[in-house]
Amino acid sequence: MSMDWPAMTPEQAPPLGNGVVHAWWCAGGAEAVVQRRRYLDALLQRLLGGYVDEDPATLVLGREPRGRPFLSDANGKRRSPDFNLSDCAGHSLVVVSRTLRVGVDVERTNRRLRHRELAQRYFAPDEAVAINALDDAAGKLQFLRLWTAKEAACKATGTGLGGHMHRWAFAINDGIPTLIDMPDEAGSADDWRFLTLTPPDDGFLATIALRGNFERLCCFRLASEVS
Ligand SMILES: CC(C)(COP(=O)(O)OP(=O)(O)OC[C@H]1O[C@@H](n2cnc3c(N)ncnc32)[C@H](O)[C@@H]1OP(=O)(O)O)[C@@H](O)C(=O)NCCC(=O)NCCS
Repeated sequence: MSMDWPAMTPEQAPPLGNGVVHAWWCAGGAEAVVQRRRYLDALLQRLLGGYVDEDPATLVLGREPRGRPFLSDANGKRRSPDFNLSDCAGHSLVVVSRTLRVGVDVERTNRRLRHRELAQRYFAPDEAVAINALDDAAGKLQFLRLWTAKEAACKATGTGLGGHMHRWAFAINDGIPTLIDMPDEAGSADDWRFLTLTPPDDGFLATIALRGNFERLCCFRLASEVS
């Protein structure tokens, strides 16, 4: 999906209505691991503060049992909006929605990978066969579309990847992942939408998984510094 990514601060973003999803592309430098964790928490607080109209520094982030972060109240209970983050090569994509459950994955398109072997290991048999039949460039692109769709699905549900990726099966139609099989506990395919995005910096591919009634996606580049 090709989109405009206007530069924006959280305060300038349009209201996040029901069914609307906001995606924020944040170019934040590649700090060392410890500082990166601190940076990502500050980034989430900065973005979410705009949606709840509160001082970002006062926002509390909780974690589900398998690590999925959520916005918490003082008693540790989840509060709106739902969000998810993917961090890749010094860039982050954060997806936010009030009414949908969201998951996101970003990957570099120029990374070296043995896409046929990985597909054989982690994907459903039909997907691996389809990828194996493509030439290197097309197979790698297809692999990344499927990988990001599966990872985004696992991140929306919060299961984590281990033992779950192959439970999500897709066909790719005109470059768009179409869900054809999924875990029982994830409801029905009609509940889900998958959007493949091209971030505004070169060399990245992202997929967003959405559970709920989707109306519209708005994409922004974060214009302000995070400290
Ligand atoms: C997190 C995970 C889903 C993807 O990791 P990745 O591809 O390396 O990284 P991404 O940048 O796309 O996503 C990382 C971010 O996703 C979010 N995240 C972490 N766990 C998550 C989960 N279970 N579901 C959804 N999102 C999650 C966090 O914001 C995390 O950033 P952080 O490392 O600063 O906390 C993967 O590492 C995983 O499967 N974790 C689960 C571990 C698990 O099952 N633990 C059980 C412990 S009992």
